[in-house]
Amino acid sequence: MKIAVIGTGYVGLVSGACFADSGNFVTCVDVDEAKIEALKNGIIPIYEPGLETLVKRNYAEERLLFTTDINEAIDNSLMLFIAVGTPSVEDGSADLSYVLNVAKSIGQRMSEYKIIVDKSTVPVGTAKKVEETIREELDKRGLHRLEFDVVSNPEFLKEGAAIDDFMKPDRVVVGCDDPRTAELMKELYSPFVRTSNPILIMSPAAAEMTKYAANCMLATRLTFMNEIANLCDVLGVDVDEVRKGMGSDSRIGHAFLFPGAGYGGSCFPKDVRALIHTADENAYNMQLLKSVEDVNNKQKEILFKKLSEALGTEDMRGRKIGVWGLAFKANTDDMRESSAINLINSLLKAGAEVMAYDPAAMKRANEIYGDKIVLKKRSYDVLQDVDALVIVTEWNEFRRPDFDRMKSMMKNHLIIDGRNLYNPHNVREMGFDYRGIGR
Ligand SMILES: NC(=O)c1ccc[n+]([C@@H]2O[C@H](COP(=O)([O-])OP(=O)(O)OC[C@H]3O[C@@H](n4cnc5c(N)ncnc54)[C@H](O)[C@@H]3O)[C@@H](O)[C@H]2O)c1
Repeated sequence: MKIAVIGTGYVGLVSGACFADSGNFVTCVDVDEAKIEALKNGIIPIYEPGLETLVKRNYAEERLLFTTDINEAIDNSLMLFIAVGTPSVEDGSADLSYVLNVAKSIGQRMSEYKIIVDKSTVPVGTAKKVEETIREELDKRGLHRLEFDVVSNPEFLKEGAAIDDFMKPDRVVVGCDDPRTAELMKELYSPFVRTSNPILIMSPAAAEMTKYAANCMLATRLTFMNEIANLCDVLGVDVDEVRKGMGSDSRIGHAFLFPGAGYGGSCFPKDVRALIHTADENAYNMQLLKSVEDVNNKQKEILFKKLSEALGTEDMRGRKIGVWGLAFKANTDDMRESSAINLINSLLKAGAEVMAYDPAAMKRANEIYGDKIVLKKRSYDVLQDVDALVIVTEWNEFRRPDFDRMKSMMKNHLIIDGRNLYNPHNVREMGFDYRGIGR
């Protein structure tokens, strides 16, 4: 099939590369000229395991093209996927301007039947808005009878495991009212569901809602676990034992039960806010989700709180603090709404000197902080003479460190572990003041 993917970010680039890898002819479009130029030169603008190989292979085989020219992509494709960002605006709602701009460009260009597929996460009713926007542009051009279909096809991939998630999805959700278009969507996705995971055809509005409901459920589950961990801290219980005990219940399961310093990233925070906003707009009070957001905002301050408790002061002038991990989770360079930002902002405000390291997010951190913090090339380099080490991201390389080496470098043997990576008993035996979440 001939496909255009408009928006070549985390979702667009992964979707484009995976569609190309299953034999489709894909044109990836972005307004960011530097990004497209880099991709043409084999430079992948994001860190995502496995993506580089996939992009290079399909680019070399000319199944994957990169362009800034949306018109070329529209002309050459039957299916036009919209994968641009939908960030939060001030009032918490999703900013649809990028999606609707693309819809407008499509309406201004298309001159034959097209299928427009919303892959961005968008509020209920957006497929309708996309349709209206395109129709309006076609009408202006006198193309009143030109047909097209709009499909909602939300994406469920996780950054850090995006290729695997896309290639082997638990399910594919297709919101589509037209049976012929639904069949084409099924055909497109059939290589990815060979183990018979379902392709669920539903109304566009239900598909849009499914994506928000799924993300909000996961955010709620994490937040619930963070509260259980906080109570464990108060009661002197090890939440890791509790987590295993809970997760072994087949009605509960083990996934998304790891407590931490609050959820971040480019999806959960904005999607929770957007669903609350949709509900408010429709005079329904999403009480539970509002609490989830409140609890999460507080949780994001927990690392600084634990650190200042351990040091006996909130005044960090003259203190040197090491930070391991800046990305909002492991295996990505994405720092959007990462708890590391809350921590570092509080540290800087309190006068601390911050030394930080992340295996993938250094470029992003440099864009955010410049010379306000010291970025070190290796994990151990941040430990020299520090008053404490704070672990924010659960990168594998932090899981089995050389504690003797750490001890010899750190001025004060304090570890605040926002990911519960270590066995508290063992680390304390080695002479560290070790503080995890709920342990
Ligand atoms: N990142 C994730 O893990 C993830 C997972 C599932 C769903 N989503 C959803 O997918 C959507 C995209 O997310 P992302 O993280 O890939 O965003 P992103 O910010 O990484 O990428 C968006 C890209 O769109 C480009 N763009 C903006 N306007 C454009 C236009 N008019 N024409 C062409 N390109 C344009 C931007 O330059 C950018 O490169 C969002 O709605 C998000 O909620 C994201």
